[in-house]
Parts: sequence; C-alpha cells; structure tokens
Amino acid sequence: MPDEVVAALAPRPGMTILDGTFGGGGHSARLLAAGASVIAIDRDKDAIAQAAPLHAAFPDRFRIFHARFDQFPEILQREAIGPLHGILLDIGVSSHQFDDASRGFSIRFNGPLDMRMDQSDAISAASIVNSWPESEIADTLYRLGEEHASRRIAAAIVRHRDSQPFSSTTELADVIASVIPKKGAQHPAVKSFQALRIAVNDELGCLQRALAAAPPCLLPNGRIAVITFHSLEDRIVKLWMRHLSETETDRPEWPAPRPNPDLCLSLPSRRAISPSPAELAANPRARSARLRVAERLPSA
Ligand SMILES: C[S@@+](CC[C@H](N)C(=O)[O-])C[C@H]1O[C@@H](n2cnc3c(N)ncnc32)[C@H](O)[C@@H]1O
Repeated sequence: MPDEVVAALAPRPGMTILDGTFGGGGHSARLLAAGASVIAIDRDKDAIAQAAPLHAAFPDRFRIFHARFDQFPEILQREAIGPLHGILLDIGVSSHQFDDASRGFSIRFNGPLDMRMDQSDAISAASIVNSWPESEIADTLYRLGEEHASRRIAAAIVRHRDSQPFSSTTELADVIASVIPKKGAQHPAVKSFQALRIAVNDELGCLQRALAAAPPCLLPNGRIAVITFHSLEDRIVKLWMRHLSETETDRPEWPAPRPNPDLCLSLPSRRAISPSPAELAANPRARSARLRVAERLPSA
C-alpha cells in the first residue's frame, strides 16, 4: 500500500524514517523519492543485496542493516541516529521469498522445508516438524494457523517422521493432505504452513517487541504505520494502539475509570486502511493487507 503509506507518513526532506521491513524496497524508494532519509532493516540477506540500487541513488540518505526489526533501538543507539519522524513495518513474507522455491515458504513449489527469513537462524520448519513434541506441534498449528484439525495433523506428522524425517515442502503438504479433506480451492496445508512460518521466525514476538520499543524512539507527532496480513498480527497492532491512545483505563474491580498511565499515542483513524481496488486488481496478494497508523502525542 505505497500510496497509503506515503499519505500516512508524509515524508519530506529533513525527515528520518525507519523502514523495518525493506523487502524489495518499494516503500523505501517512495520515502526516499519524497526527500526523506531512510534507515532500512531486513532480516533476509537477499533483501539486503537488493538494496544496492537505492544505495547508489541516495548515498547520503539511505542506510540498510541486516537485523530483525525489533533490534532497531540498538541500531539507532549504536549508529547515533536521533529520534525518528516515522516508523514503517510491512509485516510478513515478501513476494521474492514466497516465489523462491529454495526458501521453502510456499506450498506451490517443492523445496527444502526451511521458511527461515534469516538464513542464518538456527530453527527451520524441518527442525520443528522433525523434533518438537507432538503436543507442541499441535498447539502451534492451532494458535498460529487457527487450524482446527491441529491434533490430527500433528499425529500424522509424528507417524511420518518416525519412519522418515521431513525434508521437503511437498512431503509435508502431502502428509497433511492425507488426513485433511480438501475444501474449496485452498490447499489443506495452507494454515499449517502459515503457523510453521510464524513460529520459525517468531513473527508475533518480533512485532510485540518492536511495538513496545517504538514510542520513545519517535519524535513528538512522529508516526508509526504498520501493515499486517492476517488477523493475529492485526489484533496485536489494534490492541496496542488502542491501549496507548485511551485517555482512561478501567477494570471491573475499580469504582471508576482512571487516567491511562501509558497514554502516548493518538490515532488519526480508529479503522484499519485496506488496499484500494486499483492495488487489488494489480496485486491480488494484497487482499488481506491492513494498515494501521498512530501518532506520538507531543506531550508524551
Ligand atoms: C512484506 S515484505 C516487505 C515489502 C516491502 N515493504 C517492499 O516495499 O518491498 C516483508 C519483508 O520484511 C522482512 N521481515 C519480516 N519480518 C522481519 C523482522 N522481524 N525483522 C526484519 N525483517 C523482517 C522479510 O524478510 C521481508 O523481506
């Protein structure tokens, strides 16, 4: 949602904006074109390699770091970069990652059962399905994939790995399909693949830590814009923004609401922004994207 991100962050010369999810660099390029300086982060070395043209075009206003985005406060401190005018997080997997069979993210291709966004991380999808206890696999599929057949799938995974450890995406997809009836066009393993990817990359933990660290790193009236792709992430962002923007909090045991000690944000809109019809026509993968924006209060 590049237009919506530009509208939300209003980049201009003199601003410094953190792009915590550089990916193919589309959003960074728009922020740079509007005159802002960009501090970019990605945990995927392939994404860092794609940044060379932006380096060449904007040598004084663009820097990129190979890291997780929840590490951004350490990067700002280490590099002596002051508070930010904006923070952008466009959570999830890039098209480049999905479409590269060797990364193991997609059910559409046979590839190694990997799913690591950072190729140097220790845990891959194969290590989870080949070594985690059955109950932990089932809980992960249920919690992170909202897969109601999680116990049946986990039992089938353990039966299979006892005779042959998993190594490929197709092997896992076939085992899941063998115990889940196919409904509609969606492959029966889609939810399990999503759950494993979120677990491998600790995606929800990274998001929660980055949000918690964001307010003090923003200038007064600085904005944070977060794009999510599924309801688990959107709920984390929505509840975080709601809590930090409420003037009062209440609990059943209190006689009356009390001032919110955590108040530090205002919300330009309480509603999430969805992609425009034009973007959906050009990129159907964007259909579940939701953008939420918050602004640091001048007095916080
Ligand atoms: C949806 S893509 C971003 C696309 C980007 N906005 C663009 O315009 O091309 C997500 C990117 O964020 C990266 N990413 C996801 N989670 C991350 C994290 N916790 N820390 C750093 N990078 C992350 C992925 O490696 C991927 O390259």
